[in-house]
Amino acid sequence: MAHTTVNELKAFMGLTTNEAKFIEQARERGELYIVQPYDLYSPENHESWRKLFSRMHGRWEKYANEHFQLGIDSLCLNPNAVPRLEDVNQFLEPLTHFKAKPVSGYVPAYKFFDCLRNREFPTTITIRRSDKLDYLPEPDIFHDIAGHVPMHTDPAFADALVRFGDCAHTAAEIVSGISDKEEQIRRLTSIIRAMARFFWFTIEFGLMNSKDGLKVYGSGLLSSYGEIEHCIESPDVQRFPIQLEWVINQSFEIDHYQPLLFHVENFSHLFELVDELEKWMKDGKLGNVAPGEPGVNEEDLVSFLHI
Ligand SMILES: [Fe+2]
Repeated sequence: MAHTTVNELKAFMGLTTNEAKFIEQARERGELYIVQPYDLYSPENHESWRKLFSRMHGRWEKYANEHFQLGIDSLCLNPNAVPRLEDVNQFLEPLTHFKAKPVSGYVPAYKFFDCLRNREFPTTITIRRSDKLDYLPEPDIFHDIAGHVPMHTDPAFADALVRFGDCAHTAAEIVSGISDKEEQIRRLTSIIRAMARFFWFTIEFGLMNSKDGLKVYGSGLLSSYGEIEHCIESPDVQRFPIQLEWVINQSFEIDHYQPLLFHVENFSHLFELVDELEKWMKDGKLGNVAPGEPGVNEEDLVSFLHI
């Protein structure tokens, strides 16, 4: 009997991406916001964190923007173990009132942006396998805590994220006034696509000017050992000053290194762009952007219509 219990416990152990029973069960129960069951992390999970964290160090020093460097230092992350979100928040909250909020999986678009508006960052708690450190199509705790959260320690960046959350509210208000259902869905799809593109080319894959040349502030780049170097060094990458009209109409693919990136001047510039995005939304300029990636799923649409 005891033997079975131990085996059952072992089967439950581990918070590995796509293999975590705890996450499966939370999803079955329909629970999006969860706790971080820290004791379930296996030795292999901690080993993944240790490997991911240690190899990034030199690359962050070379390629990350200075706000990230300050941010990651101020979080006092343990290089050898998966972070506890409670510990991260103890350092983060006093700086910008942001906090990491554990989730069981995909957060529909409106809910995601609404969390940002409330200075909560939906955070994945699973971690990639230790033998597959490079390729991961979905976020994990390394991407979210080592890639995103250090940026949330910067007040100007944090304010731009909150402003982004405001935009989602504005979008919901705008489309709630459209009585023709078909037109409402068409417009909303376009607005969500424009917002997703803007988010992708700034928060996830943004570059920033500095006195030492272009530096990385996008979290998709900050959490990728290969791409953080490639995006700055490779002659195959096109890097242009950001233009709102370009970004909202530019499709992207998520399964390979980005061939096209945009740079901002600083985080005040980013904030101004988010302001502009909202203005364009109000003026109806986001209601018919160029088709293409990313796709907008029904869950995202519903999240904006039932608030
Ligand atoms: Fe991300």
